[in-house]
Amino acid sequence: MRMERELALELVRVTEAAALTSARWMGLGCKEEADGAAVDAMRRMFDTVQISGTVVIGEGEIDEAPMLYIGEKVGCGGPEVDVAVDPVEGTNLVAKGLPNSIAVVGVAPRGCLLHAPDIYMDKIAVGPCAAGKINLDDPPAKNLKAVARASNKDVRDLVVVILDRPRHEEIIAKVREAGARVKLISDGDVAPAISAAVAGSGVDMLLGIGGAPEGVLAAVALKCLGGELQGRLCPADKAQEERVRAMGLAEPRALLTMEDFVRGDDCIFAATGITDGDLLRGVRFHGETASTHSIVMRYKTGTVRYVDARHNMARKPLVFEKCR
Ligand code: FBP
Repeated sequence: MRMERELALELVRVTEAAALTSARWMGLGCKEEADGAAVDAMRRMFDTVQISGTVVIGEGEIDEAPMLYIGEKVGCGGPEVDVAVDPVEGTNLVAKGLPNSIAVVGVAPRGCLLHAPDIYMDKIAVGPCAAGKINLDDPPAKNLKAVARASNKDVRDLVVVILDRPRHEEIIAKVREAGARVKLISDGDVAPAISAAVAGSGVDMLLGIGGAPEGVLAAVALKCLGGELQGRLCPADKAQEERVRAMGLAEPRALLTMEDFVRGDDCIFAATGITDGDLLRGVRFHGETASTHSIVMRYKTGTVRYVDARHNMARKPLVFEKCR
């Protein structure tokens, strides 16, 4: 069964629900509560979506997460699909009221999404003009030159987003040495990876090591936008290597390309802003109503939609029953 195009709009409802509930916890210092509210709302909203979905990127293994665990079936029946979710991408960002937290969903026909364990992944992400011209194994200076040439800019015009972590000291130094500007972020590398493919976002490239599940989600978005993400899993020990193999990757440290992340010619990506960011505005509450800002896109048709929605909280018991 094909994924119908209406599915894209159904998936926006899913990310809107997660964003609306977690945004109530913005700035309150409670990352678990923010995440729990979003997971709950997302899980409930999936019950209304016409798919026979299997979670392949989720909240953890079955014994770690009560909902949206890997292998859980979601949806009320329809085409067989793989589902990747992150109800709150950037839990610290929500807890601290910082920018760029988003609620995210990616969907592709069954068997088409990479099954990646929750370990680290080295990543490079760029937009459509530089797709096919970068290589994760090349030094930053070479990749920056390629992006500058492809986008008709100078290297000094480029902005590279990197997670502010001690493990990135060397790569940050190399990017600066090459002449590009660096935007260090405290958390949340999915939104900047997507921003690299959005003209006018002020981001040209994402570099560095972050979560592998986040890599898969960003790759779904970049596939829809014509950008590119390359990754390499970084298993920390033998046990993690075994987990990678158990998920179907014979060579745990192989270079992963777009076709490894999302096979085939159909996938849908939806995200809603929780806090304000380069890509999306965050949730705004106006008494009885609230507004959300989302992006939803489908690879097959190439459509990219931004959805500005106004929600009447009183008439959304499904979403807000458990909301603070
Ligand atoms: P959350 O799971 O709290 O939402 O954090 C997400 C994140 O910041 C990702 O965006 C990033 O890929 C990863 O964590 C980085 O991991 P670490 O904080 O261990 O460096």
